[in-house]
Amino acid sequence: MSNKINAAITAVGAFVPEDKLTNADLERMVETNDEWIKSRTGISERRIQKGKGLATSDMGAPAVLELCRKRGIDPGEIDCMICCTVTPDMLFPATANIICDKIGAINAWGFDLNAACSGFLFGVTTGTALIESGRYKKVVVVGADKMSAIVDYTDRSTCILFGDAAGCVLLEPNEDGYGIQDSLLKSDGIGREYLYQRAGGSLNPASIETVTNKQHFIFQDGQPVFKFAVKGMADVSAELLERNNLTGDDIAWLVPHQANKRIIDATANRMGLSQDKVMLNIERYGNTTAATIPLCLWEWESKLNKGDKIVLAAFGGGFTWGATLIKWAY
Ligand code: UT7
Repeated sequence: MSNKINAAITAVGAFVPEDKLTNADLERMVETNDEWIKSRTGISERRIQKGKGLATSDMGAPAVLELCRKRGIDPGEIDCMICCTVTPDMLFPATANIICDKIGAINAWGFDLNAACSGFLFGVTTGTALIESGRYKKVVVVGADKMSAIVDYTDRSTCILFGDAAGCVLLEPNEDGYGIQDSLLKSDGIGREYLYQRAGGSLNPASIETVTNKQHFIFQDGQPVFKFAVKGMADVSAELLERNNLTGDDIAWLVPHQANKRIIDATANRMGLSQDKVMLNIERYGNTTAATIPLCLWEWESKLNKGDKIVLAAFGGGFTWGATLIKWAY
């Protein structure tokens, strides 16, 4: 009898644009200051994708190419591409298709997945099911967002938060018990009142009014989102540990969505984890929405050991939130 097929992450790739937007830059653009931004969010600088004609796929494509290089595979071997994003190149076709075209992933089918800041977790869980089914051998999950395309740089409550980046993982079958062990995902449409991009969809198609009223930008009512996020991310992470009979001592790393250092600290505390087990790079990249978690995995990859138990956790627009338990495979 063959063993159960798990989905394991076997490679990580990422791409960050070179241009930086620092707190000092923002001080010159809106009424804010470095001290406020750092103490309320933990952010010092973000990366911005500059240049005409560049879009989310132009960060996703090099990230996936790096992943292929590291794993020693040709893009033509990829079976499926899932692109998690709220800033697709266009509303359609899917950015996943565009990435496939740009890198020569000619045998892959693909689609976009919209779960805002939890997008990567939702994508990994979906990709895991495809691998576990036995039908697919190589599924790429990309988290990529060009947040600078939808940020209003006159709104100090949001423009200090977001940055641009892409990160990705390759999922492959593993029959030795490594890989994705469990996922606990949630969503609640009540969140649409607090965090949204109002226009450009079927409810409010683009018009002169929607542009004039700045409805194509991201809007966030920060305080309620903060409250939901602190509770949601901590609850779900604690529940995931409990139902897998684990405590904080068993966990090598927490990989939290990077929206606010205070939300991350609350989650780590609730799980009983010390700071040194928490991946934190919000200071250098800000909130890159679906890219934050794979970007952390990419930066910490050399510190991860085979068999490490890792928890990924996120909260975001929708609301969407969740946590995923991984037994690292390499
Ligand atoms: O990733 C998706 C999910 N998103 C999140 O998880 C984000 C959740 N929310 C947050 O992280 C926080 O709510 C923010 C970082 C967005 C804001 O922090 P806050 O501690 O909730 O601040 P606040 O919105 O309550 O504003 C406090 C004060 C206000 O002034 P008054 O009314 O007390 O006089 C704001 O007007 O800070 C003011 N303020 C600023 N001051 C300087 C707001 N933005 C700024 C700014 N610089 N950039």
